[in-house]
Amino acid sequence: MLMAGCGDLGTEAGLRFAAAGHRVVGWRRSPEKLPAEIEGVAADLTSAELPAVPADTSAVVIAVAADSSTEAAYRAAYVDGLGNVLDALKRDAVRPRRVLFVSSTAVCGDAGGGWVDEDATPAPDGFSGRIILEAEELLRGHFEGTDTDTVVLRLGGIYGPGRTRLIDQVGSGSAVIPAEVRFTNRIHRDDAAAAIVHLCTMEATPHPVYLGVDSHPADMGEVLRFLAEELGLPCPPTASREPEGSAGQPSRGGNKRCSNKRLRGTGFEFSFPTYREGYRAILEGKGVRHP
Ligand SMILES: NC(=O)c1ccc[n+]([C@@H]2O[C@H](COP(=O)([O-])OP(=O)(O)OC[C@H]3O[C@@H](n4cnc5c(N)ncnc54)[C@H](OP(=O)(O)O)[C@@H]3O)[C@@H](O)[C@H]2O)c1
Repeated sequence: MLMAGCGDLGTEAGLRFAAAGHRVVGWRRSPEKLPAEIEGVAADLTSAELPAVPADTSAVVIAVAADSSTEAAYRAAYVDGLGNVLDALKRDAVRPRRVLFVSSTAVCGDAGGGWVDEDATPAPDGFSGRIILEAEELLRGHFEGTDTDTVVLRLGGIYGPGRTRLIDQVGSGSAVIPAEVRFTNRIHRDDAAAAIVHLCTMEATPHPVYLGVDSHPADMGEVLRFLAEELGLPCPPTASREPEGSAGQPSRGGNKRCSNKRLRGTGFEFSFPTYREGYRAILEGKGVRHP
């Protein structure tokens, strides 16, 4: 297994591949941060000079993240980074059985609070979704007509050990409940990692696209009220109006409810089917964030 971009999510997936008996190689700029189970190799995906791809690579997972919230950083990480990995595979004549690209539900855009599945036409409303969608198309086009399965996993907002933005906001008293109902589509880091392993190793041929979200798209106000209750704190105040987005980027990732029916249809089972189980585990101190 080759993990191209191996941070919190890539490391957790890599550890799970290793526990299942696979050799795992992790490419990142600071490979010394990786645990012993993953063979770390220094690689900058934005460079055309990537290291040799191990000849026994049966699956590649691209789980790189942008260094900052700018168009240039997104393009460098997702489009250039993916393109360089694809070039390295071609250069070394390595033909994996599967290549999985970690994408985002940001490509789906806004649905006015309605349900969205993998068959909905993507309509990203910010540069991040547009650029990630471009990377999805690059991946599909590259392997069209070959024996390699391509899988795009569009993850919702990842939360997990050490990824406690909402808990911290509620704890510090800075959380504000949105003025209008706004759905948030979330997934616990461990379920996201487990889904990557499942989609890369299942016998059945995967669909080209899966939404990676838990089973309960929830109103953000509901999540914040739940966290306040769990922490024994007063309910956060409600905003008087919706915030403005910044240029080229909407204020939030679109109001929609993403369905995980296709992912569950593969036999995948969630350890944290809703934010409640997931946040309770975090509040109990379970798990660690990988550097
Ligand atoms: N955060 C969310 O809520 C969310 C939502 C949907 C989808 N996602 C997707 O989830 C994926 C992984 O997220 P994560 O939580 O694992 O992020 P993360 O912990 O920040 O890990 C990303 C890794 O990418 C590596 N990286 C960045 N630029 C690189 C480059 N030029 N060359 C090589 N490696 C590079 C970084 O390692 P080095 O610094 O050592 O290079 C880092 O370890 C991303 O694809 C992201 O788009 C995230």
